[in-house]
Amino acid sequence: MTGDGRLERLNGMLRRRGFLLPAFEIHGGAKGLYDFGPVGGRMRSRVNQRWLDHWLQLGNVVELSCPTVTPYGVLEASGHVGEFSDFMTECTTCGEASRADTLLEGHHANPDALKRDELQALLTAVNPTCPSCNDRAWTTITAQNLMFNTTIGAGDSGRAGFLRPETAQGMFTSFNALHRHFRERLPFGAMQVGKGYRNEIAPRQGMIRLREFNMAELEYFIDPEAELTDDLTPWDGRPMHLLSDMEEPAVMTLFEACKKELIRHPTVARFMGITHDFLVDVGIDPARIRFRQHEQDEMAHYAMDCWDAEIQGSYGWVECVGIAHRGCYDLESHEKATGKTLRARREFDEPRTTVIDGWTINGSTVGPTFKGLAGQVKTAVEALPKDTSFPCKITLGNDEVVEIGQEHVKPNQQTIKETGEWYIPHVIEPAFGIDRIIWHVIDHAYHETEKNGEHYTLMRLASCIAPVDYAVFPLFEKDGMGDLAWNLHQQLCGKPGIVSMYDASGSIGRRYARADEIGTPQCLTVDHQTLEDGTVTVRNRDTGEQVRIHPDTLLA
Ligand code: ATP
Ligand code: GLY
Repeated sequence: MTGDGRLERLNGMLRRRGFLLPAFEIHGGAKGLYDFGPVGGRMRSRVNQRWLDHWLQLGNVVELSCPTVTPYGVLEASGHVGEFSDFMTECTTCGEASRADTLLEGHHANPDALKRDELQALLTAVNPTCPSCNDRAWTTITAQNLMFNTTIGAGDSGRAGFLRPETAQGMFTSFNALHRHFRERLPFGAMQVGKGYRNEIAPRQGMIRLREFNMAELEYFIDPEAELTDDLTPWDGRPMHLLSDMEEPAVMTLFEACKKELIRHPTVARFMGITHDFLVDVGIDPARIRFRQHEQDEMAHYAMDCWDAEIQGSYGWVECVGIAHRGCYDLESHEKATGKTLRARREFDEPRTTVIDGWTINGSTVGPTFKGLAGQVKTAVEALPKDTSFPCKITLGNDEVVEIGQEHVKPNQQTIKETGEWYIPHVIEPAFGIDRIIWHVIDHAYHETEKNGEHYTLMRLASCIAPVDYAVFPLFEKDGMGDLAWNLHQQLCGKPGIVSMYDASGSIGRRYARADEIGTPQCLTVDHQTLEDGTVTVRNRDTGEQVRIHPDTLLA
């Protein structure tokens, strides 16, 4: 059964059964903050673990856990202080804030890609109704940075910081530790599941737009010059639903899309395949997955190419994963800001000889004059042409301008034989929004039928992420059936990774219904025959079929 009221019934069930609950409700709650409740909490941790296990299969990926509180300088270097904003407008009648691009959906193919002036012009022309009071009177749009500010430390020594808007930055700043861990051999990846924070302008659609949410991101460091010819082998035959920014929507294989250069890097295509596998594995209907490429103007400030995995559900098509080619943007930005190198080395097939005829620094004067900047001064001086006259001004890697006198330099003439070179790795990043994925898993699994004239709800959740593995029922809590059932329940709970739920309330039909509603794959019932031969009935959630087994087969 679909149609009117389904979404309301689904949301009501999620709340009633403890999947998802508005957080801090007894204090009036706060928009964009949700609890995963007694049932949802387990499901979230299972999806997280499944995600980690999925990427661990690559064999060259490790898990990190970085702080969510992040110093200002890190997010200034990454570009988030300057760039991480959405355009906001407020209703002059009721004061409700809205994202300008969201108000204009349906009036432009992709309002998210519009520049400020274009967005303002469209807002003025369309003058949409306010979702809160239905009036049509808007303030001029302003850019709203989405990061939550905080202070690290107390009093005057407190430093400005933010709650992280993505988990990625801690993985970039840990690059040298990762590089050492992998014995200086690329490609390798670091991944992390954890909280991200965005002070969203108008969190309206439940789990789709939260202010604190669960992210799962992989930063995969590659040598941009490495050969990648066989990267697509396992996926090259699978048709995918692709919306490229260059072509009409198409169903084609990732391999074809790479050959046509719609997907601009084979590792992006490979990760799109792995993303598809993961989504299907946790229960997303494959017919309701598509990949949409970002338009040039829509791309995040760090990205060279980006494909979103979008899932279709009760809120239409929603971005749930972004797979971005971040180039060398992040490592280069952190190098510039800190003066520290974040590089890998590639060896040449044959040694290369370079003749140098230019300048280098005079260490005895540059050290005392430029102190911590001496390394950057050396790099800049060695890049100067031979006919440079001194004194002259040079710009360092961190954009600082310094004056170099004749006393700081000496001629540099030498022939160098190099066996390799240092380079800044590129990064391919799949970034998953776990809350949006869980919402769609539930939406796709939620089935309504009718039983005895009433709505009957069945959640066909994949066993690997179902919040409860077994529901154990005593037919009656007498004649020892209650004790046997409780004992079986406890033994099942003692098995690593298994969750069992004991339920002895109400009729057996009601108990099955409660178990079906939260997607429990199997119900075990202890009855009179159990007292005689130790067997229990196992009922399959999806078929309703019941067979007798000995519980030892489950406990082995
Ligand atoms: P949107 O355009 O919907 O705001 P985004 O492009 O800003 O999303 P990304 O920055 O690519 O999203 O973040 C990676 C993933 O994190 C998204 O694909 C999404 O699943 C999830 N995500 C982003 N913002 C939110 C949010 N406010 N609430 C829940 N999940 C989010
Ligand atoms: N790390 C991807 C994003 O937050 O956009």
